[in-house]
Parts: sequence; C-alpha cells; structure tokens
Amino acid sequence: MSSLQAIKYSRGKLEVLDQLRLPHSFHYDVVSNRSEAFDSIASMRVRGAPAIAIVASLGLAVELHHQGLAADSSSEAITQIDQALDYLKGSRPTAVDLSNAITQLKSRIRESSEGTKEDIISAFIDEAEKIFAQDLTTNVAIGDSGADWLRRNAGATAETPVSVLTHCNTGSLATSGHGTALGIIRSLHSRGLLKHAYCTETRPYNQGSRLTAFELVFEKIPSTLITDSMAAALFRLQKDKANVAAVVVGADRVVRNGDTANKIGTYQLAVLAKAHGIKFIVAAPTTSIDLVTPDGSGIAIEERKKEELTQVTGAIVKEDGTIEQGSKARVATADQRVDVWNPAFDVTPAEFIDTIVTEKGAVEKSADNTFDFSQIMAERW
Ligand code: MRU
Repeated sequence: MSSLQAIKYSRGKLEVLDQLRLPHSFHYDVVSNRSEAFDSIASMRVRGAPAIAIVASLGLAVELHHQGLAADSSSEAITQIDQALDYLKGSRPTAVDLSNAITQLKSRIRESSEGTKEDIISAFIDEAEKIFAQDLTTNVAIGDSGADWLRRNAGATAETPVSVLTHCNTGSLATSGHGTALGIIRSLHSRGLLKHAYCTETRPYNQGSRLTAFELVFEKIPSTLITDSMAAALFRLQKDKANVAAVVVGADRVVRNGDTANKIGTYQLAVLAKAHGIKFIVAAPTTSIDLVTPDGSGIAIEERKKEELTQVTGAIVKEDGTIEQGSKARVATADQRVDVWNPAFDVTPAEFIDTIVTEKGAVEKSADNTFDFSQIMAERW
C-alpha cells in the first residue's frame, strides 16, 4: 500500500494535502468546517471524484463534531445538515461521487430522526467515516478486477507483461488511497504483469505530470511521461517498441448507458485506442455511477477559468537543474487577452469503452454498445 495520503483523518481532525503545490512541496491544510472543505475542493487543492466526496463529507463531520448544531429539534437538525450538504454540492458539478455521498448521508441521518440532535450528528459522522473507509476497500477490489480483466482479455501474464497508458490522476491522491485506474496499474505491477506505464501530462492542469508521474516514481513503477499530443504516435509504436495494450482511465460520472465523463482528453484517447486496436478500460467505483442520467448528453461539464490555460504555476529551477525549495512562480504561457475555452471534462461514448471495472467486478458491454449496471447497483443501494 502506498504511503502517499491526500486525506488524513481522525475523529475531529481533517488534514488535506494541497495538491496545487505538488510535486514541489508537501503541505497539509487543516480543514475544519464546511466552507474550508468547499474552498479546498473548488480551488482544486483536493481533486479527483472520490477525494472530493470524502473531503466534503469529512469536512462537515469535523465541523459537527466540534460545533454541533444550533437546532431546537431533530427535524431542524436534519434540515440544517441538508442545507450544509446542498451548499457543498455546489463546489464542483461534474463528479457524481459527491452527489451520491450526499444522498447516502441524507438517508443515514433520517434513520436517526426519532433520536436527539446528538444522535443525528453521531449518525452523520459515522456515515462520513464509513464513506472514507469504504473507498480504500473499493479501490483495492477495482485494482484486482482490472488486473484480472487484462489477464483474460489482453494477454497479461508474467511471461508477457503489458504496457498501459493512463490519463489524469486517479491514484492515492485522488482517493482515500491505492486509486482506481492507477490502482489497476499498481495491481498489475505487484503481480508482475506490468511492463511499463505511460502517463499523459493532462493539460491544462497537469494532473498527469504533477501528480501521476510523481506517484509512479514514488511507487517505483517503471513509467514514462508523455504530452497529451503524443498518444497517437505512442500507439503507432505498439508493434515493435511501446506495445501499449490498454488505456486505463478513471471516471467522474458514468451514466446509465455507460457514457463516461472524465478528465478532458479522455475521449480523444478512446478514439485513438479504437483506431489502434488497443483496449480502453474505465475504472469506476459504484459511487461514480449515475443511473438517473440516461446518456452522456445530460452530463453538466464544468468550465474553469481561462488562467488555467494561459498561465502555469511551478517552482523555480536553479542553474544546476535542481528545484529551489519552497519557491513558487506563476508564468504566462499565452497572450493574457486571448479568448479561452476550458472544459474540465469530456464524455466518452460507451461504444468506445471495452469494460467498466467496478469494485463488484468488470462490467462487459452489451451487444447494443451500452452497459447495464442494474445488477451491481441493485446490490449497492
Ligand atoms: O479535475 P480533476 O483533477 O478533479 O479530475 C479528475 C479526473 O478526471 C479523474 O480521472 C476522476 O476524478 C477519477 S479519480 C479516481
């Protein structure tokens, strides 16, 4: 298990790694209430669909633990918690894990509606802690199922280990630990089934170069960083050199037919994978599945500020090539007046996806090019 931790929690105390400073420096913010949790998520100091849901849930849990609620009745307590959760839901719109966690928390506190307001607070804290703990178990199961799928469908064996490419960051930093798509890569590696992992830079926010490359190096997984625009050229090398067998990505929202919203650039990788006969795997916990939205056209895509494209933040590189510790520089990379389109996510149609790996196993595509989650989701809810 990786010792990289985006989220450190013990009852009454939540610390969140500021991912905007990675890989140059390690700094944990103390998050002690709903507005600090909201700010941490909206500013992307913490990001990744499961991590967002966990920080929102635990941020409110810590506030309730220390401050309680100024409610005169249990029904008022429920209303106040509902309001806090609805506020947190507005922090980032595309990832569905947060909405699903909110539904779970609202339902759990209603089970204690006959009790005192302290009972309601205690039920909330227990459930938020459960969401945190379950995510880790889920990720390990996804990792194992994904590695099994690649063994069955992409010929990954100890004698013929496979190379994979991943996009964005889906590792320990995006979750409670282990990761989803990166969890599959970890499982492949630990079983001796991984030849090489490629990760994309993931413009514009560079979650691939800043975070995934960092995790891969940290874990000593054989890996190479490429820019997003190099994927097609890399896939062309498959016959002789790179031999990429699969693209493995995470998900922010998988809707009822299997259309999947994930980091911008995912869709183009899926199209390229199909064109090169490379498997395309989505790793998604059931907390990332949205059975209410029928297909990808109903997914709201978050658009972010133009400065994410026209500026970069980094540390200062000294003459000798080393980094000046603690330094921070913001650099313009474009004319600051230029118009910018900056969608944070795109939607990959189900037809481009070979399997969606959940903690309950790999879901296979139906003959009509859609996915059917009814069985696994019936077990979940
Ligand atoms: O904007 P981000 O960094 O929150 O986007 C993250 C992704 O798109 C991940 O692939 C997704 O959330 C899955 S994380 C396990």
